[in-house]
Amino acid sequence: MSNKHSNPLFSNPVRLLAPMEGLTDPLMRQILTQIAADLGRPYDWSVSEFIRVTQTVLPAHVFYKYVPELHHDAKTASGTPIHIQLLGSEAQLMAENAVFACELGAPAIDINFGCPAKTVNSHRGGSVLLDEPEVMYQIISAVRQAVPSDIPVSAKIRLGYTDTSRMDDIRGAIDASGADWLTIHARTKTQGYKPPAYWEKIQGFNSLDIPVIANGEIWNTEQAKLCIRQSGTSHLMLGRGAVTRPDLIVQVDKIDVANDESLITSTLLWSDLITHQIRFLQGEAKNDVVLVGRYKQWLGMLTKGYMEAQSLWNEIKRQKDKAAIIAALQASR
Ligand SMILES: Cc1cc2nc3c(=O)[nH]c(=O)nc-3n(C[C@H](O)[C@H](O)[C@H](O)COP(=O)(O)O)c2cc1C
Repeated sequence: MSNKHSNPLFSNPVRLLAPMEGLTDPLMRQILTQIAADLGRPYDWSVSEFIRVTQTVLPAHVFYKYVPELHHDAKTASGTPIHIQLLGSEAQLMAENAVFACELGAPAIDINFGCPAKTVNSHRGGSVLLDEPEVMYQIISAVRQAVPSDIPVSAKIRLGYTDTSRMDDIRGAIDASGADWLTIHARTKTQGYKPPAYWEKIQGFNSLDIPVIANGEIWNTEQAKLCIRQSGTSHLMLGRGAVTRPDLIVQVDKIDVANDESLITSTLLWSDLITHQIRFLQGEAKNDVVLVGRYKQWLGMLTKGYMEAQSLWNEIKRQKDKAAIIAALQASR
């Protein structure tokens, strides 16, 4: 097992695109990782939406559905690696699925201990396991021992289920499990997705001998800087902020120098973002209704990042026809 000083993946501060079920699906990953690469700061990796493990070793087509990148060396077209996230509570079954995911080409396995969904939690999966650190330990260590030693195994957690009282036990479980790194969404399950995020609580995990990645409520450069300062780690995972401002990844490392030209070129203008929105609408989806719905979800989020998105939103919010939306986008250049 590598420690935080020797893991070459963390020799520089990492910037990761968060797993978000129904949001950073393969199409959105494709677009966002392309934008980051075009701007000169590719994501170091992204993590798939969670794949739920319940009773069996899932068939290959399930893994390919969630992670079509497996057909291409587990990388997006712009070359960003995609790690596979599993969610479940049966250690042995999780291990068997992880082994199979590796056989299909997963470059790393991440284990979800953060999902707040009722259906998932009622089956003892996701964030509810934060109240059972010994089960977390069993799952991570079983997966760690089962998959090839050169494949990293990581965990993604929140600060706790209803409160932060089990943080020491959770840290102990992670420490003993052999996990290669830890990502922390700095809120409890009860705190949901509402601001603030409690970045300073992440410090409690920095005594671990593995890299720690901070996540939650990073929407701009100032918040990124504050998160790094308060959490004590320089590794960041970007979630909704990266969908709202697809250039956030380059903005977070902006240096405070006025009139620096690199800052201007590293900003994604609305006119350039239009091309990516059209690409999104031309992407693969079950059908056009799904695609248009997904696009509207994105445009709704873009209204928080781009003033221009609001008038487009007003114009197309009732539009169901994909071609008409593409025409409106072209006109809004
Ligand atoms: C719609 C949505 C779906 C999510 N799905 C997942 C998931 O599948 N796996 C996971 O580990 N976290 C998931 N998350 C949590 C995010 O990865 C991230 O931890 C959280 O959004 C906090 O980061 P943010 O405040 O920057 O968005 C999801 C979050 C959202 C908003």
